[in-house]
Amino acid sequence: PPPEDCGISPVLESLGAPEVDDRVKNICFIQVNVVDLNEQRVVAWNSAHLPIHEDGLLKVVRPARDGTLSVSISLPELEHPVELVARQPNLVFSTDVVRAIREADIVFICVNTPTKLHGLGAGSMADVSAIESASRTVAQNARKGTIIVEKSTVPCGTARMIQDTLCYHRPDETFEVLSNPEFLSEGTAVENLMNPDRILIGSAQTLSGFRAAAVLRDLYAAWVPPERIVTVNTFSSELAKLVANTMLAQRISSINAVSAICEEIGHGADVDDVSLAIGKDARLGPKFLQAGVGFGGSCFEKDILNLAYLARELHLDIVADYWLGVLRINEYQRQRFARKIVRELNGSLRGKKIAVLGFAFKDGTNDTRNSIAVHIIKDLAEEMPQEIAIFDPGCSSAEIMDEVRNVGLGPSQAESIKICSNWRESVQGASVVCVLTQWKHFRGCRIGGPQEPFAADSKASNTTAITEMQIRGLEATLRGREVSTLPEDPLGRLKPMSECPKDCTSCRS
Ligand code: UDX
Repeated sequence: PPPEDCGISPVLESLGAPEVDDRVKNICFIQVNVVDLNEQRVVAWNSAHLPIHEDGLLKVVRPARDGTLSVSISLPELEHPVELVARQPNLVFSTDVVRAIREADIVFICVNTPTKLHGLGAGSMADVSAIESASRTVAQNARKGTIIVEKSTVPCGTARMIQDTLCYHRPDETFEVLSNPEFLSEGTAVENLMNPDRILIGSAQTLSGFRAAAVLRDLYAAWVPPERIVTVNTFSSELAKLVANTMLAQRISSINAVSAICEEIGHGADVDDVSLAIGKDARLGPKFLQAGVGFGGSCFEKDILNLAYLARELHLDIVADYWLGVLRINEYQRQRFARKIVRELNGSLRGKKIAVLGFAFKDGTNDTRNSIAVHIIKDLAEEMPQEIAIFDPGCSSAEIMDEVRNVGLGPSQAESIKICSNWRESVQGASVVCVLTQWKHFRGCRIGGPQEPFAADSKASNTTAITEMQIRGLEATLRGREVSTLPEDPLGRLKPMSECPKDCTSCRS
């Protein structure tokens, strides 16, 4: 609410403090209405079982959603800090899209932009139909002067497309469209949100564009230092998001290509040593230099395809091929890993059991979308093993099975897939244990005797044995986590709503 209406002024007056001034204005609660067409998802956001797993997310969501948010303010005029408590929830999840748009000063468009599957640009171009539809609804309902912010990762020029939609529906009014791409990573999203490397804001290079960018900048300035808020034009902002992801992926493909060279050289050439050595160069830095089975997730591949498509459209074929090379190495790396396992098992998986530890596309998340594991499992399933037993501490069986079905396994191959509820069931009697997600519990396997099952870990150059002692260690870790019942611990196996043993209204309280 505006400062004069937010109840702070009388509190401060009664304490002998000044009238509401700018310092207090900055701590006024902001009303955030999150709307989604998917009713089930909204129900989940309003429950104790949030639809996505992120460390610390419930702690951020709960006080704002349940109306218990408080802030402490200290002013020199006051003897003690004053605790201000929100009088009502200031974070509301609902399906009432039109109402939320009508009430908003700023509308963030955060819909998904998957890769197009049919027609022109299928397999590489981003599908912006959800953006188009959201823009239309915004154009039909927004108040005059509302600022529209594109948060989704979008092709270059999308802000202009949104602007055109607004012009078409509201020809007599002007709206500013800003680009404000999201850079957070899954698993560390809350930490990234609280302490971002940078906030990027793209605006039209006009007076009203700069004004709109300043409004958004002030919103972030509540917790982000000003030097980390970068303002540019909308095209640069949209492009920067694609390029950031593409360059991160390029680093991973580069080091994975080095892992292939190390394996062929032999003589102890170790990709981790190379990575350590080059990461010490301040110009390169140590991050995103960890060799593995390849990058997964919903962003990198999509954004590379998107950038390559843009280059192709601009008749820059050599540039497009350069970026697509990053994806080719990624595919090569995961195929190399699957082939290595088959070779280690004398060229055949028939009658053998394969254990897969880890299915999420990375640790700390339950996200299975475009997980590398599913592609490796597909390659292994084609060798007709007796069983592929999968265990992931964070993902539900339904999520894993959905992804397995989507990858297009034939019925006879799908029959060999078994989802295990604990690691022991998965590794029991297995000829090989593939560690495909870097959950910390799976790390540190040692080389063992030839009769033991070997673990092919996510560093493609390693095939190592899991010893009984290490397995016990793993069990201890998992057990320890399970009894602690931390609500946000992936090892606590957050249940989807449908499996919740309690009535969710009471869970919430
Ligand atoms: C990425 C970007 O990091 C983030 O800025 C953007 O907003 C969204 O896309 P995310 O997909 O959540 O984030 O995960 P990220 O940590 O980048 O990892 C992506 C993939 O790369 C994972 O499969 C991970 O295992 C792999 N990876 C990462 C490596 O193989 N080696 C590394 O050194 C780092």
